[in-house]
Amino acid sequence: TRNGIEFAVADLEAAEFGRKEIRLAEHEMPGLMALRREYAEVYPLRGARVSGSLHMTVQTAVLIETLVALGAEVRWASCNIFSTQDHAAAAIVVGPHGTIEEPKGVPVFAWKGESLEEYWWCTERMLTWDGEGPNMILDDGGDATMLVHKGTEFEKAGVVPSPDEDTSDEFRVFLQLLSASVEADTGKWTKIGEGVRGVTEETTTGVLRLYQLAAAGELLFPAINVNDAVTKSKFDNRYGIRHSLIDGINRGTDVLIGGKVAVVCGYGDVGKGAAESLRGQGARVIVTEIDPICALQAAMDGYQVKKLENVLPEADIIITTTGNKDVVLVEHMARMKHQAILGNIGHFDNELDMAGLQRYPGIRRINIKPQVDEWVFPAGGPGAAPRDEHSSDGKSIIVLSEGRLLNLGNATGHPSFVMSNSFSNQVIAQVELFTKYEEYDKEVFRLPKKLDEKVAKIHLDALGGELTKLTKEQAEYIDVDVEGPFKTDHYRY
Ligand code: NAI
Repeated sequence: TRNGIEFAVADLEAAEFGRKEIRLAEHEMPGLMALRREYAEVYPLRGARVSGSLHMTVQTAVLIETLVALGAEVRWASCNIFSTQDHAAAAIVVGPHGTIEEPKGVPVFAWKGESLEEYWWCTERMLTWDGEGPNMILDDGGDATMLVHKGTEFEKAGVVPSPDEDTSDEFRVFLQLLSASVEADTGKWTKIGEGVRGVTEETTTGVLRLYQLAAAGELLFPAINVNDAVTKSKFDNRYGIRHSLIDGINRGTDVLIGGKVAVVCGYGDVGKGAAESLRGQGARVIVTEIDPICALQAAMDGYQVKKLENVLPEADIIITTTGNKDVVLVEHMARMKHQAILGNIGHFDNELDMAGLQRYPGIRRINIKPQVDEWVFPAGGPGAAPRDEHSSDGKSIIVLSEGRLLNLGNATGHPSFVMSNSFSNQVIAQVELFTKYEEYDKEVFRLPKKLDEKVAKIHLDALGGELTKLTKEQAEYIDVDVEGPFKTDHYRY
């Protein structure tokens, strides 16, 4: 704590650099800046205590300061152990008007390279306010929401289940943290769950978790699915990835992508951006899919569609984008080419069988630099021959960010302009739920299309795009209002 502000960041000295980058980002985030202007002096979030769990980047810094400009009090943690940009975290603690000695910003608990224990500690600190708890959650991937829900569930039951051998490391650490707080018997999570008016969720994986909770009748508060705003998933997930995937691969490895065979697992929004990104560099891209519709889209877009098993001997780069688990198993890794690159850009690291890789008999890990590891298989397995005949080493593969989302682990995630779309929806959703929570049941909602169109318009204007205006007659003919919305809800874009 300094000047009354609690924080846990890598280095407050980095605040000045962070502030410079935030200033540049503000210009690239016209949606957020327009919302600041629109709500200046209205302060729709006055009284809001927002607990946020979302990659602590420069772009997120502009989001946080927008929430503050709208009147909110905020506490923040990152939703991933590798994604924090330490200079952005420092600048947010110091604030635009503070100094390192006298910070005046927002409590942040995040640094690049947290352990799992530290990660959950940060998440808990972010949810722990002096006095009253948070009344809003802003989530990315659903970890903060899960902590409140599981905490409430275990407090009601009076016990935390013990981990068994199938429990992942991450969940084991999570259960340890909850054991301590449930034993303390303060009813902490139940109180937080009761005090929260709603959550706004950023990503596909978090949204899936919310729909599961709602279907089971277990959702403790209403939720807005921000991901499925068109101006979020059809832009951030796609064009954001198109930018940040190769950024991560390049910063991690600097291997020439052109001419190589790159496999993209999954051809949803993220997969489409990933494939385009790699093709843009001249890679020969192959797609794997389980859904015939997305598979056919990939084929029509000119990619080969194959099963992973059948492309392992030729793949130079394999990227998972599915949001599913166990997509690349250790058996697959053992069959990859020497020094092939493996990375995941979906939300959780369980897309890759990292646990299986660590347990592989005779495997050796060589850390090349932060977030880049070479995993050396023992000689004799499939793949390339050993480096020399006296060595017990076989071929190796290069794994980025330990299987966690590599665009944020190896690079700096999506650029500001596309995040301005996503975060404008976040801010609108926060205002909506904070001010009108009584009108919402404990279910998952989406923002109205009109607001989506508004977010798009702001960004189109910033790019100098000219929008054609409907005549009254044309509008009647296609049965829409001259001012929109221009599409039905089932339109797919
Ligand atoms: P999506 O649902 O549009 O796409 C996922 C695709 O994977 C689907 O088409 C599905 O049929 C396919 N799939 C599922 N299991 C598969 C398997 N075993 N093999 C091959 N394909 C399989 O989801 P979206 O929006 O593309 O998101 C994907 C993941 O990326 C999510 O975890 C999401 O949270 C995350 N995400 C990450 C971002 C980042 O910056 N790294 C940005 C946005 C989303």
